[in-house]
Amino acid sequence: MIKVSLHSLHKSISILVLFFTFNLAYAQQIPTEPEAIANGESLFNANCKTCHRVHQKLVGPALANVYDRTPSIDWLKSFIRNSAALIASGDEYANKIYNEYNKTQMTAFTGLKDDQIMDILAYIKSETEKGPPVAATPAAAGGEGGGSGVPAEYLNIILIGMLVILVLLVVILIFLVSALKRFLDQKELSEEDKEVVHSPFTLASISRSAGFRFILIFIIGSLGFKAVINGLYSIGIQQGYEPKQPIAFSHKLHAGAYEIDCKYCHTGVLKGKSATIPSVNICMNCHRSVKTESPLIQKIWAAADWQPETLSYGPNQKPIEWVRIHNLPDLAYFNHAQHVNVGNIECQTCHGPIQEMEVVKQYSLLTMGWCIDCHRKTDVNSKGNAYYDKLVELHSASSKQPMKVEDIGGLECAKCHY
Ligand code: HEC
Ligand code: HEC
Ligand code: HEC
Ligand code: HEC
Ligand code: HEC
Ligand code: HEC
Repeated sequence: MIKVSLHSLHKSISILVLFFTFNLAYAQQIPTEPEAIANGESLFNANCKTCHRVHQKLVGPALANVYDRTPSIDWLKSFIRNSAALIASGDEYANKIYNEYNKTQMTAFTGLKDDQIMDILAYIKSETEKGPPVAATPAAAGGEGGGSGVPAEYLNIILIGMLVILVLLVVILIFLVSALKRFLDQKELSEEDKEVVHSPFTLASISRSAGFRFILIFIIGSLGFKAVINGLYSIGIQQGYEPKQPIAFSHKLHAGAYEIDCKYCHTGVLKGKSATIPSVNICMNCHRSVKTESPLIQKIWAAADWQPETLSYGPNQKPIEWVRIHNLPDLAYFNHAQHVNVGNIECQTCHGPIQEMEVVKQYSLLTMGWCIDCHRKTDVNSKGNAYYDKLVELHSASSKQPMKVEDIGGLECAKCHY
């Protein structure tokens, strides 16, 4: 009697449990609404894109189909929130991929809510179903990134081609001249005409020609003029300065093809005066496992004194000695946070298309006139900044123009000079 009822109780509990898990699984179905996917895409771009792509291995695995190969949706949630905790708990799958990825620590996202994670998965699922993009290779993406302008290597080819054509033309002309001479020799010519035909084709005769002298003087003159102008312009100005770096680091590859956020490396940009050059540890976040066989990456390992056997840093770390490109004189004060964070100015406004540069070069003049000019022209970004409310009010009382940087003291000597 008791046995039977226990049995039926057990049965009904199992049914309940089954029903419940089914229900849960049902509730956890990855959403397919366009809003969820769009929200997921922006969350993915903001949080995950530095290390993950859907169809391509980057720092972490390609995430296509990840919901099928991982143990469960709940597992995914706890891994994404805190992979370190899951790995420490001894979870088998988590430890397997952790080791596969050379023990690269994934960032913890404890702040992500359940539905946010589901939206990210929705985005990953929709991308998975779309299949890999046709031109997914970074080389192609980077190559197209340039858009306008002829790449340098083509320019060289074009120049060499033009030279070859010029030489060919000269050869053809010489042939023509000698053929003509032979032809004229067969004719009956007066003495005078013969002299003209056979007049020696020497350097002396060329240098006597007025046309040649003009061209020569013109070329020397313009070269000299260009040298003087270049010299004048380069006094204290380094626009275009493009020194060779100790490691051939490419912004075109990192910021362009792989779309790594500038602020991921230049961490000071929102906080302070200096944008800061990334320390070797930031490189190691990825290059502990990315492209480790490259001699260039080995240089990074040497600087970090990375011990691949023990997966730890040795005692002999030394910074990579990057050559500084932008350099204002000490008398001037420039603050990145003021411009990027408060002023909301894009890096590219001042630094040009860095994400297309193989080697960084100084894009703007960086003269006082350059700073002042922009302060005269640019409206203050006062939206959502309570600090400016009063100032805008005062300003609009006296002027119909939008408030420019010059109106908040952007032309005062002491703002830029210590
Ligand atoms: C700093 C780099 C980094 C960031 C940022 C990052 N991940 Fe990861 N992720 C990794 C690495 C590395 C792994 C491989 C496992 C390991 O080493 O712990 C991984 C593994 C995963 C896995 C398991 C993949 C598999 O094949 O089983 C998922 C799922 C995942 N990440 C999702 C995310 C999501 C979602 C985000 C954004 C919210 C994110 N990751 C952000 C580096 C990162
Ligand atoms: C993966 C890390 C990384 C990312 C992402 C990155 N940079 Fe850099 N950046 C560096 C390193 C390393 C240097 C120093 C070596 C060099 O000049 O190439 C540098 C140098 C620079 C310099 C020249 C600094 C000087 O010496 O005056 C500028 C300007 C710059 N980066 C702007 C940007 C902008 C803008 C972006 C985003 C579009 C960006 N960087 C993205 C790592 C990075
Ligand atoms: C967020 C990830 C990430 C960070 C951070 C990062 N890199 Fe890279 N780096 C990559 C990827 C991805 C590649 C391309 C690998 C490939 O071609 O397979 C790469 C390629 C390179 C290469 C080319 C290697 C070769 O032989 O082709 C160099 C050099 C390099 N990185 C230097 C650096 C330096 C220096 C830093 C730190 C300032 C840095 N990287 C930071 C992801 C990163
Ligand atoms: C309003 C113009 C302006 C904007 C916007 C700007 N920069 Fe700069 N940047 C400068 C000037 C000027 C210098 C030279 C500063 C110096 O020598 O003190 C500089 C220097 C740098 C340097 C060299 C290191 C340093 O801090 O001196 C890096 C790296 C850099 N910028 C990165 C960035 C990045 C990344 C962004 C966008 C997030 C950015 N900059 C936005 C004007 C700008
Ligand atoms: C692309 C335009 C641009 C360029 C170039 C530029 N600035 Fe600015 N600057 C701004 C804007 C916009 C603000 C206002 C930011 C804010 O809302 O506080 C500003 C604010 C400032 C301030 C604070 C002014 C105040 O009254 O609070 C200083 C100082 C400054 N800039 C210095 C410089 C120096 C030095 C340079 C040249 C090396 C420079 N800026 C180049 C746009 C620019
Ligand atoms: C918006 C920022 C800004 C303001 C405002 C500003 N300056 Fe400058 N000034 C600079 C910068 C940047 C340099 C360095 C540029 C260079 O080396 O070409 C500079 C350079 C100078 C120099 C040195 C010139 C040289 O050839 O070395 C003098 C002198 C000077 N400023 C005086 C002034 C005076 C006086 C005022 C007020 C009327 C003033 N500045 C306002 C940014 C500013």
